[in-house]
Amino acid sequence: MSKKVDVLLGLQWGDEGKGKVVDVLTPRYDMVTRFQGGPNAGHTLEFNGEKYVLRSIPSGIFQGDKINIIGNGVVLDPALFKAEVEALEKTGHPLTKRLKISKKAHLILPTHRLLDQAYESAKGESKIGTTGKGIGPAYSDKISRNGLRVGDILHNFDQKYAIAIQRHKEILEQYNFSYELAALEKEWMEGIETIRKFELIDSEHVINDALKEGKKVLAEGAQGTMLDIDFGSYPFVTSSNTICAGACTGLGVAPRTIGDVYGIFKAYCTRVGSGPFPTELFDATGDEMRNKGHEFGSVTGRPRRCGWIDLVALKYAVMINGVTRLIMMKSDVMDAFETIKACVAYKIDGVETEQFPYSIEGDIEPVYIELPGWQTDMSGMRSENEFPEEFNAYLNFLEAELEVPITIVSVGPDRAQTIQR
Ligand code: GDP
Ligand code: IMO
Ligand code: MG
Repeated sequence: MSKKVDVLLGLQWGDEGKGKVVDVLTPRYDMVTRFQGGPNAGHTLEFNGEKYVLRSIPSGIFQGDKINIIGNGVVLDPALFKAEVEALEKTGHPLTKRLKISKKAHLILPTHRLLDQAYESAKGESKIGTTGKGIGPAYSDKISRNGLRVGDILHNFDQKYAIAIQRHKEILEQYNFSYELAALEKEWMEGIETIRKFELIDSEHVINDALKEGKKVLAEGAQGTMLDIDFGSYPFVTSSNTICAGACTGLGVAPRTIGDVYGIFKAYCTRVGSGPFPTELFDATGDEMRNKGHEFGSVTGRPRRCGWIDLVALKYAVMINGVTRLIMMKSDVMDAFETIKACVAYKIDGVETEQFPYSIEGDIEPVYIELPGWQTDMSGMRSENEFPEEFNAYLNFLEAELEVPITIVSVGPDRAQTIQR
């Protein structure tokens, strides 16, 4: 038995299709865990004509009685969690026996959401374009040792809550931010009652015990490598480590327990929110990607910015994460394209580089190579034997550039539209 934690994570700016693939891979595992992020995530799953969007709950929840764990590295908003649980229960997916929550996960307080808004409006033009879910303020409180954890709801909670809220109110006052807290607070407190219905665990023990017994664990990343707090396009990033190392700190598993690292990417590239995006397209091709790929945020509904695949950034992401298997999504979106472009280098101040630089802000000219499009509807294909020649050429090109095999190709949003190679 492998005694390993396999990690699946995004290599671009999020929304690569992590939820869909975690659902597909779950039958091979005993446990699916989330290790970072919170309800800024929106992971979409489609099967049997139904569509679900998960925010804090792992995407292994639809595959039988597998155990799903919200790990210590996650920030949890009780109000949004309650809404997510209720929506799933209404559609016939009871969760209380299959979903467990780490006592060490941090709580997003209702005032964290307000602080997120206050910080964003204070930044004006240079705002991050956050999801407005209080992610940054909640992680800031965790790091500055002011946070409240899920385990805190078990003892003296009211007192701890009152102290935290008072601190936040004082900050909001400094920002001259006007707000209405009562309604937010009411639904938040109801969410705390929902959390109490679940088993609150020491997840690091539960996961390591499972590994000792030879069980297989899948860690589900949120966001993507280019949004990582250390290695992403800072400051236009999220507030957690989205990279593979984040699975160790966000679950309490040792680096040597990490097995396969599945790196997931779109056959093109998208980004939502502000920040640099060297291969962004502002033309009809970009619009076609957005329309055909339904590139609108699953959490905020914002249109996603679209562009060609960026191999400089992808190689960097493969390196940082130690990716062992690649998963390519949404190639069907480019089915009608006559030519496909891939960025293989950046030209900065007239000098070409293949190495991802310190900053990608400012004037970066992407250097492209062009490949012929396959101009074939691939959405009905179920085996790699059906792949058109030009599509195989694109796969071979990417594998040669990235030096990692592409082991799964997704040709549509449905669970069934997934081809393993
Ligand atoms: P996640 O955050 O990484 O889980 O990704 P999202 O769910 O936010 O965004 C991916 C979107 O693409 C969702 O709407 C999926 O249903 C959809 N999707 C996933 N894989 C494919 C694919 O291969 N082709 C197409 N056309 N859509 C896909
Ligand atoms: P999934 O898991 C895409 C982006 C926001 C913003 C920046 C910071 O669905 O791939 P935050 O609210 O985290 O402080 O916002 O990060 N962002 C995402 N973009 N997919 C996500 O999650 C994202 N989560 C955050 O748009 O630019
Ligand atoms: Mg998403």
